[in-house]
Amino acid sequence: MHNSKTIADLISLKGRTALVTGAAMGIGRAISERLAEAGADLMLVDVNAEALAEAASEISSTFGRKVTQHVVDLSRREQIEALWNEIGDNPPDILVNNAGIYQSRDFLEVDEALLERTMAVNLKSVFYMCQHMIKHREKQGGNIINVSSVEAVLHLVRGLVHYGISKIGVLALTRALAREYGPKGFRVNAVMPGGIKTPGADRMRNEALKRLDFGFLLTGASFLRRVPLGRLGEPDEVARVVLFLASDLSSYVNGAVIAVDGGFLTD
Ligand SMILES: NC(=O)c1ccc[n+]([C@@H]2O[C@H](COP(=O)([O-])OP(=O)(O)OC[C@H]3O[C@@H](n4cnc5c(N)ncnc54)[C@H](O)[C@@H]3O)[C@@H](O)[C@H]2O)c1
Repeated sequence: MHNSKTIADLISLKGRTALVTGAAMGIGRAISERLAEAGADLMLVDVNAEALAEAASEISSTFGRKVTQHVVDLSRREQIEALWNEIGDNPPDILVNNAGIYQSRDFLEVDEALLERTMAVNLKSVFYMCQHMIKHREKQGGNIINVSSVEAVLHLVRGLVHYGISKIGVLALTRALAREYGPKGFRVNAVMPGGIKTPGADRMRNEALKRLDFGFLLTGASFLRRVPLGRLGEPDEVARVVLFLASDLSSYVNGAVIAVDGGFLTD
C-alpha cells in the first residue's frame, strides 16, 4: 500500500472536539450525528434550549461521545463572548458554523429589523466565531467549515435577497481566512447546500402558503425543476460532505466552496 494511513484512519475524528452551531435540528443536527459517529466529542450550540437538550442526549447515548450543550443566541455578540469565555482553554479542533435563518420577505418590505437579524445570525456571528476560534488556536491551527447557500451565487427563491447577501459574505470570509490563516495551520472551507428538507425549509414554505405568496411558491417549484437530480436533498447528504471537510480525508483542501445541491448550479 502506498499510503500509511487507511481510509478508516483518515476519516476518524477520535480525540478531536467539534463545535457545531444550530445543532438542535436540520442540517446542524445531521452534521453533529456524523461527526460523533466518526469519533468526535461535541460542543453543541443552539438558541432553542429544549430541542438542543433533546439532540444532545440522543447523540451522546447513540454514539457514546462526550457532548456539551450551550444555549446561545448567536445574533448577540455578548453571548458569543460568554460562550468562548466558558470554553476557555479547551477550544474545539473543528468549528462548524451552520446556524442560519431564512425568512422570506419581498425586497421592498425588508425592514431594518429583519435585515439586521439576518446579517447578525448568518454573517456577523460566523465572523466572530471564526475570530474567537483563530485567537484560541493560534498556535495549534484548526479546521473551520462554514455553511453558506447556493442562494449566495445564484438568486432564485423570491423574497430571499437579504439572505443571499448574508451568505455571499460567508463565502468571502471563508476564502479570505483560508488565505490569511492557512500558513498558521488552519483549513477554512465552505459548503453551499441547495434545497434541503429541514424544519426551517418546511417553516418557510408553510408561511408562504399561509399568506398565499404565489410568487414564492412558483419560484420554489422552478427551483426543483432546475435540480438535475430532480429532488430535494436530505440533511445527512450535507453532513457527509462536512465530515469529509472535517476529517483528514480533505487534508489538502483549503478555501474550497463545495456545492451540495444535486447539480442546481450547473444550470
Ligand atoms: N435547508 C435548506 O434548504 C438550506 C439551503 C441552503 C443553506 N442552508 C443553510 O443551512 C443552515 C442550516 O439550515 P436548516 O435548514 O437546517 O435550518 P433549521 O431552521 O432547520 O435549523 C437551524 C437551527 O439553527 C438554530 N438557530 C437559528 N437562529 C439561531 C441563533 N440566533 N442562535 C443560535 N442558533 C440559532 C435553530 O434553533 C435551529 O436549531 C443555515 O445556515 C441555512 O441558511 C439551508
